[in-house]
Amino acid sequence: MAEQAASIEALLEEGRTFPPSPEFAQQANINDPNVYEEAERDFEGFWSRFADELSWFRKWDTVLEWDPPHAKWFVGAKTNVSYNCVDRHLATRRNKAAIVWEGEPGDWKVYTYWDLYREVCQFANVMKGLGVTKGDRVTIYLPMVPELPIAMLACARIGAAHSVIFGGFSPDSIRDRIEDSQSKLLITADGGFRRGNIVPLKRNCDEAIAGDTTIEQVVVVRRTGHADELMQGGRDQWWHDLMQGASQKCEPEPMDAEDMLYMLYTSGTTGKPKGIVHTTAGYMVGTYATAKWIFDLKEDDVYWCTADIGWVTGHSYIVYGPLSNGATTVMYEGSPDFPDRDRWWSIIEKYGCTICYTAPTAIRTCMRWGEEYPERHDLSSLRLLGSVGEPINPEAWVWYRKNIGGDRVPVVDTWWQTETGMILIAPLPGITTLKPGSATRPFPGVLADVVDEAGNSVGLGAGGYLVIKRPWPAMLRTIYGDPERFVEQYWSRYPNIYFTADGSKRDADGDFWLLGRVDDVINVSGHRISTMEVESALVDHPTVAESASIGKNHEIKGQAVVSFVTLKEGIDGTDDLLNELKRHVATKIGSMARPDDIFFTAELPKTRSGKIMRRLLRDVAEGRALGDTTTLADPGVVEALKEQYGDEE
Ligand code: WTA
Repeated sequence: MAEQAASIEALLEEGRTFPPSPEFAQQANINDPNVYEEAERDFEGFWSRFADELSWFRKWDTVLEWDPPHAKWFVGAKTNVSYNCVDRHLATRRNKAAIVWEGEPGDWKVYTYWDLYREVCQFANVMKGLGVTKGDRVTIYLPMVPELPIAMLACARIGAAHSVIFGGFSPDSIRDRIEDSQSKLLITADGGFRRGNIVPLKRNCDEAIAGDTTIEQVVVVRRTGHADELMQGGRDQWWHDLMQGASQKCEPEPMDAEDMLYMLYTSGTTGKPKGIVHTTAGYMVGTYATAKWIFDLKEDDVYWCTADIGWVTGHSYIVYGPLSNGATTVMYEGSPDFPDRDRWWSIIEKYGCTICYTAPTAIRTCMRWGEEYPERHDLSSLRLLGSVGEPINPEAWVWYRKNIGGDRVPVVDTWWQTETGMILIAPLPGITTLKPGSATRPFPGVLADVVDEAGNSVGLGAGGYLVIKRPWPAMLRTIYGDPERFVEQYWSRYPNIYFTADGSKRDADGDFWLLGRVDDVINVSGHRISTMEVESALVDHPTVAESASIGKNHEIKGQAVVSFVTLKEGIDGTDDLLNELKRHVATKIGSMARPDDIFFTAELPKTRSGKIMRRLLRDVAEGRALGDTTTLADPGVVEALKEQYGDEE
């Protein structure tokens, strides 16, 4: 974070700015700067105007009921998100491409809105046939194949809440999430393709639901064709078999505005992931509005978000935001360097993508690979670029604009979270003057601030904690099964104010410069991992007595996991053990949580009250001069660690 702050400081001094070009501003969906003031004057009216553009079985009686920290949006309304993402477009966009999908091996397929309608209806009927009803939870563990958004939309259609688990998670992680959500149906695939290899999804699921489980049935998409022998009679059925007999008509269930749409697990400050709950109407309106204005979505855009649908970015900005707008959304199954490092750019050229939304870690990886890869392709179809997931360093921002955006297109840096459901801080590309490294300003109607420990606004030019001071439509409603944790985690630090756990600065113009997490969450390549999760995975190993994990600054990934481990009496810290422990974490959580470095230490630095001093470990890992050690119980511990770390370097 210190480095980040320093580079932001440098840039602020340099002061490069990019106002919208007159051509872009002129055609933009929104180009009147008064929109901010208008939304401020009546933010409920502002949101309800977007809601009016969508379809409802019954309109709302009240836009917002705010009983802090509990918000209800569009109270009394009835709607269906699948209807709004699919059926609503049949009259005007029946033959338009809804989903353009490319598999890693090079196979590809286009679903028109009409195709999507039929598939969603059919799978909704399949689920009904399997006994899934309104209010049930359905776990989805799929690769980036079209069946994934189809299954999500089918859930929304019949009123079942989906819980999508990223395909990189391990059997243990799947098991925890299934248990917490009490899902009775699991949708998976035999495997997925990743960098030419097969990810054994079905095998992971079999392990996850072995023994006691709430899962009664498993639907399996045949993708890789390598695991037919894993099908268990009476429990597992093929997607394609079930679809064959299913009717292509399924009436969408009228859902209450506040009925749960989905849950999505994310890491917090404890070892147990939390199921973030999003509901129907507010989430739909929030993702619709932000996709329309921030990405400036137009009828003939070909919009591509490179995220995996297993994360919130994919939920909101591959599936719900673009499809509720009737846009064409591109999905790619595999890795950016398969078969070569120009795969992404070949996709942009092949489909004529006009908008590309990706993550800083991906941009930095492409920077390292070099300009020759984008140079192989005609990227002139692009007219807007986006970034999400972590603070984007100004160098990466400028590289992205220049080498991918041909030095002409706007780059929108978008700040948000699984919890916020929708983008909250980002430029409006037809209005906002862009600054590399800044997410600029809150979306109209959103009230964000930077405050100190006591909750006072720090004012322009200063840094502190980012908070949101007014409800917004797509905000999380609770943590599944744990309403106390919801209040504790987000609403207890400042009364009636949402605590983001992010640090931020505001510059003299009022623009926001995000500085990263202020809690024990590590942001590895834009994936949230809690230090506690890694620590519990490590102490789960029979040789480990105690451990502490931290995030270390990393050139490409933003942050990397570094763990300090105290072994049990009589156990030697060999290289073999070190590698085994790294593997153990990957097996327990998923490979994105694998520590880059593990250090064996006789003791961990602790305060006299016994709290592990992670700040000092961070200093050690990043080779900095030690911060304040006055509260340390045994200062020798850190010195010993520093010496050892020096050797490793
Ligand atoms: C970080 C991803 C700086 C932040 C949508 C936040 C960002 C966490 C940005 C949420 C950005 C996301 N600039 N930091 N543009 N976007 N973050 O829940 O720390 O996976 O709290 O949601 O990512 O991660 P999550």
